[in-house]
Amino acid sequence: MSQKLLLRALSGEVLPRPPVWLMRQAGRYLPEYRAVRAGGGSFLDLCYSPELAAEVTLQPIRRFGFDASILFSDILVIPDAMGQGVRFEENVGPILSPRIEKYSDLAILNTEKAVKRLAPVYETVRLLRKQLPSDVCLIGFAGAPWTVATYMIAGAGSRDQMAARLWAYRDPEGFAALINILVRVTAEYLIGQVRAGVEVLQIFDTWAGSLPEPEFRRWCIAPTKEIIRLVHQEFPDMPVIGFPKGAGPLYQDYSIETGVAGISVDPSMALKFVRDHLQSSVTVQGNLDPLLLVAGGAAMLREAERILSLMNNGPFIFNLGHGIVPETPPENVGELVKFIKQWQS
Ligand code: CP3
Repeated sequence: MSQKLLLRALSGEVLPRPPVWLMRQAGRYLPEYRAVRAGGGSFLDLCYSPELAAEVTLQPIRRFGFDASILFSDILVIPDAMGQGVRFEENVGPILSPRIEKYSDLAILNTEKAVKRLAPVYETVRLLRKQLPSDVCLIGFAGAPWTVATYMIAGAGSRDQMAARLWAYRDPEGFAALINILVRVTAEYLIGQVRAGVEVLQIFDTWAGSLPEPEFRRWCIAPTKEIIRLVHQEFPDMPVIGFPKGAGPLYQDYSIETGVAGISVDPSMALKFVRDHLQSSVTVQGNLDPLLLVAGGAAMLREAERILSLMNNGPFIFNLGHGIVPETPPENVGELVKFIKQWQS
């Protein structure tokens, strides 16, 4: 029996105060993270260096005392490990080459190689389980197939995911072959993380909101459901948190159909809808606007209070509605965590 707050919340318990962690809690807003990055090497080198990746995972835990820790890595290690090279360019973002533009391009993807190349990530997990305080829960993660595919196809981040949406419309069978590869490799990757010691999984579907309903069902709900089925085949009780950002009212069917234990809601979601239509079947996580963490002060605390009083009568995890931005003053994070930890329903 584990007493870790995050596991209790994900099993449906309503707690006097919710567990708190923040998406992207490690990263450039922290001077100690920038110091590690300044040590040379690329961002992906950092993801594949177990000692350094464990160190930057622990930095926000030491500074703020979060209830959960998220493995330091990136959703794009999957294409990189399959042989589609990924690099991160300053002020540009990720560049992936060669682009995967059509069915015949899938031949460059090597799924066997992927599993071997991701071994350093499992080593990071093992180091973290030895180093984390005993009451801090370790979260592993991956990108959802749809979101990862949007980067593989555009060869970069894109505002409207146009290339992926067009491929899915023009050649759904060919596109399904890419999604199926991603389902298999992602499930295997997540299972590897669980074997190494993560206690919860989160699946990031950042661009779920760019799909109309039928495509959302086919390319977001169905692949996520299959990944969770494969994980649960091996680890039946492993809690999975889904994050179909921007899904609006479709959050409801996603929550019910995929098999998630928790649902991470973005800042655009109305909390009465979340309480009445999501929290009855799954644990809710969210949804402070990351920019309120930049603004800080009374505006931040007022909104945190509103979220807590509306959501903490059911199973709930306090988080942002999306990741921390680099402009965030670390002292605002400290103030928010202190506020949540002192809160009593
Ligand atoms: O602390 C954590 O949350 C764990 C680590 C984590 C990172 N990326 C580290 C990172 C996680 C969970 C992610 C997820 C991720 N990565 C997503 C899904 C969630 C989201 O934010 O929408 C996506 C779409 C990516 C892809 C990605 N990685 C982009 C588009 C970028 C460049 C833009 C940016 O913010 O720099 C990254 C780089 C990245 N991933 C950084 C970090 C700390 C910054 C790299 C640096 O140090 O320069």
